[in-house]
Amino acid sequence: MAINLKTPEQIEGMRKAGKLASEVLEMIGPHVVKGVTTDELNQICHDYIVQQQGGYPAPLYYGGNPYPAPLDEMGKILEPVRADGFPKSVCTSVNDVVCHGIPNKKPLKNGDIVNIDVTVIKDGFHGDTSKMFVVGEATPQAKKLIKITQESLYLAIDMVKPGARLGDIGHAIQKYVEKHGYSVVREYCGHGIGEVFHEEPQVTHYGRPGTGVELQEGMTFTIEPMVNSGKRNVKLNRKDGWTVTTKDRSLSAQWEHTLLCTADGVEVLTKRQEESF
Ligand code: MF3
Ligand code: CO
Ligand code: CO
Repeated sequence: MAINLKTPEQIEGMRKAGKLASEVLEMIGPHVVKGVTTDELNQICHDYIVQQQGGYPAPLYYGGNPYPAPLDEMGKILEPVRADGFPKSVCTSVNDVVCHGIPNKKPLKNGDIVNIDVTVIKDGFHGDTSKMFVVGEATPQAKKLIKITQESLYLAIDMVKPGARLGDIGHAIQKYVEKHGYSVVREYCGHGIGEVFHEEPQVTHYGRPGTGVELQEGMTFTIEPMVNSGKRNVKLNRKDGWTVTTKDRSLSAQWEHTLLCTADGVEVLTKRQEESF
């Protein structure tokens, strides 16, 4: 199957959506403090995306029907949504939750590490990005896991240019992570993105050098390594159908950006102000 290359007009749409997603992460940072619930963080992000950005939070009812769910201009859901789509507007993955954590009523406590994964749909285009937040003071071990995971994303981003192969990028992430004694989750990966949330290619965070899709100018995709401090194995919560945790209950971290492969390298469509590439 062919990977769809974006036109200049589509790229402009991706830039706008990416910028909005990054701004949600910048906005929510100061709210991630001891005692707040992930439900409250979800509501703040939801209202910001719908009311301030004129966007739609892509996780909301993802996998459900109808999708996207009809909202009024205040962001209230206008009709009940059938089927079992994701029930909230962002994913919040705390401590041993690897990804797709569902916001809930449990207050965050000192030392928790939290990934907030935001995807904004704006004018039909998706911007998908996540970062780790620390509640109060984390342990040195947790801080190191977060740092190595972020560095693995950054070294992968540095490799993006036409002709680079996804197997090489995955291998580089895996090698860096494993060198530090951590493991890479295999069951979930990055993905092509555009007018569709998850499209080809699959972007694995492990791989064999010299294999896989060759990047081309105009491809837009995410890289979003999930790194465990213990073993790589994960388990899916069969009751809620979404929450993925480490099987050994070890801590897990994740960072994500949406990227454009340009003529001579990469444009980070979800870059935050604190970052430079
Ligand atoms: N944002 C996630 C990703 O990076 C996908 C979340 S889908 C949801 O691909 F339904 F769980 F929200
Ligand atoms: Co993604
Ligand atoms: Co995401």
